[in-house]
Amino acid sequence: MEKYVIKGGRRLEGEVTIAGAKNAALGILAAAILTDDECIIENVPYVEDTKVLLKAIENLGATVKYIDTHTVSICAGTIRDDGYLEVEDEYIRKIRASYYLLGSLLGKYNYAKVALPGGCEIGLRPIDQHIKGFKALGADVDIVDSSVYARAQKLAGNHVYMDVVTVGATINIMLAAVLAEGKTTIENAAKEPHIVDVANFLNSMGANIKGAGTDVIRIRGVQKLKGTEYSIIPDQIEAGTFMAMAAATNGNVLIRNVIPKHLEAISSKLTEMGATVIEYDDAVRVMADGRLKSTQIKTLPYPGFPTDMQPQMAVTLALSQGTSVIIESIFENRFKYVGELARMGAKIRVEGNSAIITGVEQYTGANMVAPDLRAGAALVIAALAATGFSTLDDIKYILRGYENFDGKIRDLGGLIEVVDTDKDVQKFKLRVG
Ligand code: EPZ
Repeated sequence: MEKYVIKGGRRLEGEVTIAGAKNAALGILAAAILTDDECIIENVPYVEDTKVLLKAIENLGATVKYIDTHTVSICAGTIRDDGYLEVEDEYIRKIRASYYLLGSLLGKYNYAKVALPGGCEIGLRPIDQHIKGFKALGADVDIVDSSVYARAQKLAGNHVYMDVVTVGATINIMLAAVLAEGKTTIENAAKEPHIVDVANFLNSMGANIKGAGTDVIRIRGVQKLKGTEYSIIPDQIEAGTFMAMAAATNGNVLIRNVIPKHLEAISSKLTEMGATVIEYDDAVRVMADGRLKSTQIKTLPYPGFPTDMQPQMAVTLALSQGTSVIIESIFENRFKYVGELARMGAKIRVEGNSAIITGVEQYTGANMVAPDLRAGAALVIAALAATGFSTLDDIKYILRGYENFDGKIRDLGGLIEVVDTDKDVQKFKLRVG
């Protein structure tokens, strides 16, 4: 089983270029089904999640082609509308976001069957708000044999008030509503940059969506959508991960291909902690010299501090001076990495949805296991900041959301390799000394 082996203790320095946003790409790839014409989508991150979703779309009968590593062509005109459009368990077990196919299949064919998404890495992650939205548009939705069946004679626009701010349900309801008859209003909508990107993609296909990025999204259904060419926004969480990496290793890194506005919550927290963050038009530089300071963080829907950056900041704060508190207000179980971090000497106490962090001078290397995608990336940051050697198992989670993660870290001077066996670990140790 592939693992990372890392020798820590070096300042990361140099430049890194950020890939397209995974969580925008997943909604956009699913949205391409809403037209029979060809869609050309650029800046698609070449990660496991997008590869699996494209396989699921191809499995439905669409024609999917990689024009190059980051550009895909999707033509849903070859899907046979035989009323048995289903997304099998195999795909949705691998990535939750296959559930966006519910919204696009229902929106276009008035029928969809998708296996219930997995989850529980970071919380229960129910889909009640997705179902509430589909029902409001006139669909019958049942859960039978752990699959979601959604079907409608005709979808008609309606007013949907989200009980919780949810990225997935906001996107899924948009996908189902763009071809529905009449007007749909989504109130208490999520405002993340990837919501705006999906809405912009749909509008480039001829949809009529206003207000994406605010908490009220207004959609006027249209008869038909056409093909388009579109480029996905940069991934603000990948960017934030490298910002925290630069700060935690006392480095100096220029992070290219970002939208600084999307990083504001992260930049302001790192500045509060004593790091230097310099913003350019499409890049940010993060520098740190000496021990950072403690602070408080509460994760919130955008534009608040992103929950997907919570583990990476906890790792950085656990090396800072003083006591910090992190409150995780989005997911119920997103501190699973704390046990792994304790093996490196971190002092973190979890009480409910809060983590009380007592900063330590340094981490020492340890053998760890990645519990989920962002926690895995955070443990890599910890190992890079630690003295000595570390290994990290279950890196499959990291490969779901980060493209060439170890290669980008090596380009910044980090000592990290992907290895298969303990023998390879020994070879790495001998080589880097
Ligand atoms: C998306 O997950 C992202 N995933 C997550 O990123 C991210 O953490 C999350 O949004 C919040 O920003 C993708 O975009 C593929 P939610 P999603 O629906 O849509 C509750 C990563 O690391 N809720 O916004 O599943 C839910 O339980 C991943 O890239 C309901 O109660 O998140 C949670 O507490 C991890 N009912 C809160 O809302 C519902 O029907 C936010 O969930 C839906 C959600």
